[in-house]
Amino acid sequence: MTIKIAAVYASPRRSGNTAALLSAAMQGAEDAGASVDSIVLRDYAMSPCLEIYGCKEKGECAIRDDFQAVRDRILAADAIAVATPVFFYTVSAHLKIFMDRCQSLWVKKYWIDPQPAEKLPPARKGLIISAGATKGKKLFDGMLLSMRYFFDVLDAGVDETLLCRGLDFEGDIHRFPEYLEAARRLGAVFFR
Ligand SMILES: Cc1cc2nc3c(=O)[nH]c(=O)nc-3n(C[C@H](O)[C@H](O)[C@H](O)COP(=O)(O)O)c2cc1C
Repeated sequence: MTIKIAAVYASPRRSGNTAALLSAAMQGAEDAGASVDSIVLRDYAMSPCLEIYGCKEKGECAIRDDFQAVRDRILAADAIAVATPVFFYTVSAHLKIFMDRCQSLWVKKYWIDPQPAEKLPPARKGLIISAGATKGKKLFDGMLLSMRYFFDVLDAGVDETLLCRGLDFEGDIHRFPEYLEAARRLGAVFFR
């Protein structure tokens, strides 16, 4: 069976460091037989969550914009790979907006259709790719904590991460071919 991956590019930079890493991982995955649906978040018009809880009855977000189409493409996939830069120790604004709109899925999962206490394994495999300019030990802690809860509403596990320190300017990633090779290899084995 061909595994279908939703690859979410969350940087405002089209050709930035995380985009290059995700593309390398997806190249590896495609070479190994996966099919990839690439979603560049900056191409979509999405309002932030307005906290009106129009989703309270049915788990469907009341704001109608590109959110629904992006959500459906992700939910149609067997696996999800998200690449975000670290911005102020968390995810990019593009991703945070999408993440907050997924509160409608949280409402569905935890208020409308609560599951039995016994926890089932997540339906989707999940990969997180990130990059930051600095090198501190805690650089990815805030981003990973947000992502763990976000992946939970998408019914995805945080099964694998690729976290790259010391990348700042656009193109910096190309000074580290070992990072790109690691991404390609990861993509080739992870999505089997
Ligand atoms: C708004 C903004 C906030 C940032 N915050 C951090 C940060 O908290 N820690 C850090 O190490 N780098 C930070 N950076 C640097 C980016 O994480 C870094 O340049 C990264 O490689 C960008 O990835 P991209 O090219 O995929 O967008 C920030 C950059 C911007 C523009």
